[in-house]
Amino acid sequence: MNTRICFIGAGKMANMVHYPSAASFNDVDIAGVCDLDENRLKETADQYNIRNRYSDYRKMIDTEKPDGVYAIGPSNYMYDIIRWCIEQKLPVFCEKPLGLNYHQAQMLTELAEKNKVITQVGHQRRSSPILGKMAERCRTHGPVSHAVCEFYKFDMNPMYGACDHIHDDCSHSVDTIRWICGGDVTGVESTCKRIGTPDINWVQSVLHFDNGSTGIIINSWASGRRVFRLELHSPGIYADVEIENKAYLYENGNYEGEVFDAKEVSGSDEFFIYGGFQKKSREFIDSVQSGTESTSSPFRDVLKTMKVIETITAQTLTQGI
Ligand SMILES: NC(=O)c1ccc[n+]([C@@H]2O[C@H](COP(=O)([O-])OP(=O)(O)OC[C@H]3O[C@@H](n4cnc5c(N)ncnc54)[C@H](O)[C@@H]3O)[C@@H](O)[C@H]2O)c1
Repeated sequence: MNTRICFIGAGKMANMVHYPSAASFNDVDIAGVCDLDENRLKETADQYNIRNRYSDYRKMIDTEKPDGVYAIGPSNYMYDIIRWCIEQKLPVFCEKPLGLNYHQAQMLTELAEKNKVITQVGHQRRSSPILGKMAERCRTHGPVSHAVCEFYKFDMNPMYGACDHIHDDCSHSVDTIRWICGGDVTGVESTCKRIGTPDINWVQSVLHFDNGSTGIIINSWASGRRVFRLELHSPGIYADVEIENKAYLYENGNYEGEVFDAKEVSGSDEFFIYGGFQKKSREFIDSVQSGTESTSSPFRDVLKTMKVIETITAQTLTQGI
């Protein structure tokens, strides 16, 4: 019998990557969809041929009794929803960040652990096919000695939403660097700026790890274009990865290097596949089916990312930024 899932949220990101991922699995049925916005509900349900449509997520869960739920939307909408689902002992896939602050992340983690619930957060760079391949190649030379994560956007506007840049996009950089460097973070040294906006839109942070690795993060929303780029360095090898585009691998002093393409490595032109979203969803579905959590971003791990994020935020305050 197919795994039955329900969706709460029929918004932009959900439609761009999460519905396509779930719909791509032939052992998964989307049993119901819930949104407060009638137009979004209709458009999404029509597109994916979902008969059962709700505006009340509690009613949907009680009626459809799914095996798992995707709760996709901004954290300020989703905290109470995720909390309720976990209290019903329902496996949950949600987007990043895990709550608006460390308190919310900690309480959701605590509840998930207490109720032994399978969880997954959409930090999809951990399942990016091209980044995974580059990490594997670098690690053939030994552990990653240092990594750099650059995340840039051209968006010179204040972030008026409930979530600031550090918790929103920068959480991806912190999470990816944590995964690439491995080990636990033992030190965080950050500095931030406001470039033409009242809120912080430039972040630089050095993370020290207990395995001796070092991670460097530079994020700016006041740059010239969007790019998410990683450098991975192990002894005698270096990968330069623009993870939605190309990667270059340089080994043992070879200046020509090898070139990889994100779409070719993933075997697909679909963003939800080469971007790592489908694989992230598959980990969730596999966990639901086996009853054993094998997700790469369970809440308890993402809590560590949130701790770094909150440390960076605290350092802006102690530095008077
Ligand atoms: N992983 C990534 O790379 C990435 C990229 C961009 C955004 N995101 C994250 O995705 C999330 C935003 O997702 P989105 O773009 O789909 O959101 P959205 O704001 O476009 O849509 C959210 C939907 O939730 C619905 N909703 C709100 N409260 C509800 C309730 N009580 N019951 C039912 N429906 C309700 C709204 O009506 C809306 O349609 C954010 O957390 C953001 O940080 C992740």
